[in-house]
Amino acid sequence: MFQKIESNGYEIEVGSLENTSFSEFLDGYSQVKKLILVDENTHDHCLEYLLTAFNGLEDAEVMLMPCGEENKVLEVCFQVWEAWTDYKIGRKDLVINLGGGVVTDMGGFIASIYKRGIDFIHIPTSLLAMVDASVGGKTGIDLGMHKNQLGVFSNPKKVFVDAGFLTTLPNVEIKNGFAEMIKHGLILDRKHWENLKSIDFDDKASLTELIFESINIKNNLVKVDPFEKNERKKLNFGHTFGHAFEGFFMGEAVLLAHGHAVAIGIIAESYISFERKLLSEANFIEISTLICSHFEIPTFKNEWVDLIFNLMLNDKKNFDEKVQCVLLSDIGECIVDQPIYKKDLMLVMDLFANLNS
Ligand SMILES: NC(=O)c1ccc[n+]([C@@H]2O[C@H](COP(=O)([O-])OP(=O)(O)OC[C@H]3O[C@@H](n4cnc5c(N)ncnc54)[C@H](O)[C@@H]3O)[C@@H](O)[C@H]2O)c1
Repeated sequence: MFQKIESNGYEIEVGSLENTSFSEFLDGYSQVKKLILVDENTHDHCLEYLLTAFNGLEDAEVMLMPCGEENKVLEVCFQVWEAWTDYKIGRKDLVINLGGGVVTDMGGFIASIYKRGIDFIHIPTSLLAMVDASVGGKTGIDLGMHKNQLGVFSNPKKVFVDAGFLTTLPNVEIKNGFAEMIKHGLILDRKHWENLKSIDFDDKASLTELIFESINIKNNLVKVDPFEKNERKKLNFGHTFGHAFEGFFMGEAVLLAHGHAVAIGIIAESYISFERKLLSEANFIEISTLICSHFEIPTFKNEWVDLIFNLMLNDKKNFDEKVQCVLLSDIGECIVDQPIYKKDLMLVMDLFANLNS
């Protein structure tokens, strides 16, 4: 048994891969070359299952990419495009992105640009990629400290979500995906938020149900607004501050993972919501307490404020030369296009210092 979600012209199938239509889907590509994109970890932990459990992948070319956000860059894309050109990959061939959000974002981008676009599917292997990165058609790569600065909207042919892959995913990465699930509950669905409070990361059956809930929340937004004109903007909650924090740490010795950055971005944007009297203090405390029980807040230095705010000023979501943000009006409700100023960032820095003391 598997559950099916209709998206914009493609389906997301949630369940054990062997029970989904993956085999039949591959049959449709029996006459063409198949390329499986993996990073070092999904090569070691996820690839063998795919190659041994399914017919039709015996001759697949496996392309290994270096893992980590620092490799979601144009230089790696060039290498893959050159290799595909050498392998004579054609317009009818199929790319299978097997990995976390870095592989699905970059693999989708590489496939969408190559020969003006070849078919690709996602098999997400991290929780974050299952509930977020593989859904909604955004593909892209980073440019220096600027997250996802280069990219295109491009839909996969299918997405197959199998929580079985999570058995080898380190706990810290599970929590990164949990941050995006929290976001989904907070912006749109109080029930999902409540369900997440008692999440058991080891209970795969209950996890599959929560993953399904979370994908549905995101998918309902991207279906009505695929190009982020209105409703889809809600998904940026936690990301105005989160992307700037993540980008800032790309220039430091220790990176801040995307999910971790979003988690503290959610605290920041919930706090601004409370400061502007949109969100009650009780709700703010409920949110920050849950997040702080899973994520550490890094130490921020006051002299970093200008650089972090500069990153916010370059955010793709801005208009009217103002930093734009999503704020909460309740748990399960939000409002978009709220301006953010440097003084808000300074308030957040004070909050973080207090939470850390
Ligand atoms: N396109 C979108 O809409 C969207 C949405 C949210 C996030 N993103 C992007 O997603 C990226 C973050 O994704 P992520 O957190 O999955 O990062 P990631 O792809 O770097 O994966 C995290 C780590 O887990 C490893 N890994 C993945 N699956 C594994 C498995 N089953 N077993 C063992 N190790 C495994 C990876 O090799 C990596 O080391 C960011 O670049 C972010 O910008 C995109």
